[in-house]
Amino acid sequence: MKTKLTRSPDVAAQDVRKGGIVAFPTETVYGLGAAIFEVQAIAKIFEAKRRPADNPLIAHVGETGQIAKLTSVIPESAQKFIERFFPGPLTIVLKKAETVPQIATAGLDTIGIRMPGNAVANEFLTACRTPVVAPSANVSGRPSPTTWQAVREDLDGRIDCILQGEPTQIGLESTVVDCTVDPPIVLRAGAVSLESLRETVGGTTAYVYREMNEARSPGMRHKHYSPSAAVVLDGEGRPRDNNIKTAFIGLDGPAWSPKLLRVCGSVEEYAREVFEFFRECDRQGIETIVCQPVEEKGIGIALMDRLRRAAES
Ligand code: TXA
Ligand code: MG
Repeated sequence: MKTKLTRSPDVAAQDVRKGGIVAFPTETVYGLGAAIFEVQAIAKIFEAKRRPADNPLIAHVGETGQIAKLTSVIPESAQKFIERFFPGPLTIVLKKAETVPQIATAGLDTIGIRMPGNAVANEFLTACRTPVVAPSANVSGRPSPTTWQAVREDLDGRIDCILQGEPTQIGLESTVVDCTVDPPIVLRAGAVSLESLRETVGGTTAYVYREMNEARSPGMRHKHYSPSAAVVLDGEGRPRDNNIKTAFIGLDGPAWSPKLLRVCGSVEEYAREVFEFFRECDRQGIETIVCQPVEEKGIGIALMDRLRRAAES
């Protein structure tokens, strides 16, 4: 299959309407989309990404009116989150409508729904005229793509089209909050913080990481965000040995000379850059990436979550 490159949301949306699979930018990371009622196209997403079949997809909408096609039960908590955070980097999990195909939700009776806060994504989704299911547009297990070039690196020849946009503004995947339970539970940390969710719906809680194995959110069980290089989280910011093929990313420059160095001006910049830095390390044959930990507040919570997962061997 030849993968088309386009900057036109309309051209990309036509491919979705014809049953194709299309990568597109959002404010978090690039997604790989198919029309939600095209079962064969959804199967192609799992195949192209080599994604385990037990990992459900998020449905993306261009306008809130489309939510009614996905669920018939919107509890008050979800209504409040939608009013405050849509469009934006938040996915809410609700009971799914019967008409939503099983393959989209990996057999679950719930569905994750999100409305991206990015103009190109919005134009594209609106032109698709249907909710679009989309996981991140990477090969499973690899860092999520934050540029269209990173999508091409993983999926060229395996998907119909890439909608070329700017590098993503946030760089980490959306916050996922389960609203089928009361109080709601945050299943994945992201740019929408637990504190701001709590301001909207008091009592919203965080899912405890150690319990992830029994996973409410099946995807959290799988290995994630990993470059080929070993990732080390180190408060001292020092390499473990004298290997010259070592890289460093953090907020303060290290006292040694890594082969590849990224010093970020803020935690937001660190979050935005980290996945692309991991990929660059792989391109350059880096063997160990030392990551400086950050304070766990705001987006620092999501960043530390991704760094810990990348560091798991
Ligand atoms: O920012 C994002 O959310 C990006 C962009 C493309 O929108 N998408 C994304 O999709 O990160 P993906 O498939 O890589 O991650 C989706 C996560 C997985 O951990 C999955 O298990 C969880 O959301 N999820 C999806 N549907 C769910 C459901 N019904 N119940 C619980 N967890 C769900
Ligand atoms: Mg993913």
